[in-house]
Amino acid sequence: MSVIELTINDRAVRGDIESRVHLGDFLRDTQNLTGTHLGCEHGVCGACTVLVDGEPVRSCITFAVACDQQKVRTIEGFDEDELMQRLRRAFSIHHGLQCGYCTPGMLITARDIARRFPDADEARIRLELSGNLCRCTGYMGIVAAIKAVLQELKENPIAAAPAARAIVSDATTAAPAFETFAATPAFASKAPVAVSNDQPAAQRKGWTAIDDSFVVPFAIDKVWAFMGDLPSVTSCLPGAELVEHDGESVKGRIAIKFGPMSANFAGAARLERDDAAHRAVMRGAGQDNISRSRANGDVTYALTSEGDTQTRVAVTLEYMLQGPLAQFSRSGLVKDFVRRMIADFGARITAQLSGGAAPEASASSAKFNAGSLVWSVVWGRIKRLFGKGD
Ligand code: FES
Ligand code: FES
Repeated sequence: MSVIELTINDRAVRGDIESRVHLGDFLRDTQNLTGTHLGCEHGVCGACTVLVDGEPVRSCITFAVACDQQKVRTIEGFDEDELMQRLRRAFSIHHGLQCGYCTPGMLITARDIARRFPDADEARIRLELSGNLCRCTGYMGIVAAIKAVLQELKENPIAAAPAARAIVSDATTAAPAFETFAATPAFASKAPVAVSNDQPAAQRKGWTAIDDSFVVPFAIDKVWAFMGDLPSVTSCLPGAELVEHDGESVKGRIAIKFGPMSANFAGAARLERDDAAHRAVMRGAGQDNISRSRANGDVTYALTSEGDTQTRVAVTLEYMLQGPLAQFSRSGLVKDFVRRMIADFGARITAQLSGGAAPEASASSAKFNAGSLVWSVVWGRIKRLFGKGD
């Protein structure tokens, strides 16, 4: 059993939970929030979609303990939300539901689409909805309802945009009074921990941003020169393969297997370097022919000296996925996974600059099996949950 504290629909909750219980069962069985429906319980149908820290997640493949210190919002938590009210009305008017089983997940996804893509056309709406399955209504009415709400938002915008509204008071305010959800012993007093925010203020609409950094034990000029050598840099990216390049542009592929997903992105990128500032941006775009998903991404890296012999490399990865893989792009697990990739990238750069061993995955070993990396991410999360550290 683990003690967790979280906020559900603006209500602070604390209690014991079995580590193996997923968020969907937790919400339904201990909170009586049965508006969250469980269909496939494999992360495929989207019926169980809820918001965790403002982002849609599939509650059937999210452990409840992983939501410790986070803010969960279920379909019952949108009664005061004007955008959701409009969507509910539109779903009724346009016959966007029949049995209603998929509807809670559809509405939460529809609201996410309306917030992120106010100018979405029908093709975009269908792409973004592709992770939510409806087995009886069909999608015509659902898509028509979302289109109608987007049009209504243009003619009659919502005064206080839901995107700007805090779901609950932040960690600087007084600790909330917790409600317990199980027969538990008295809890030790424990202040809520601030939830870290991955997204910089300047984030582009619909893009996910991840910041991280690593330190390499070499002087800044040596690291900067290395980072301008595209074949060398590519060889440090697990799963990446360089097809052709000149000094500024590159064509390549990256193959990733992540749990049930396989992707093999092929694309092109352009490198913009600022030698004086030791800062560079690689802007790229590509397509995965397996899932028909498209990706746009910018990798910005900035170098700063830490003494004469060390350099910090700050990396910001901003990306947007379109198509079936978009459903996964913003999950916490994917963010952790990307952070591990960045750390791995730093280790490989250090190895290369040391002039010793070639990196484990060379440019020619195209297939990157992320299984072990995913496992290390999951294991890292489990260890954090049980307070053992990495
Ligand atoms: S029940 Fe969670 S995705 Fe189907
Ligand atoms: S309305 Fe029945 S599954 Fe969608």
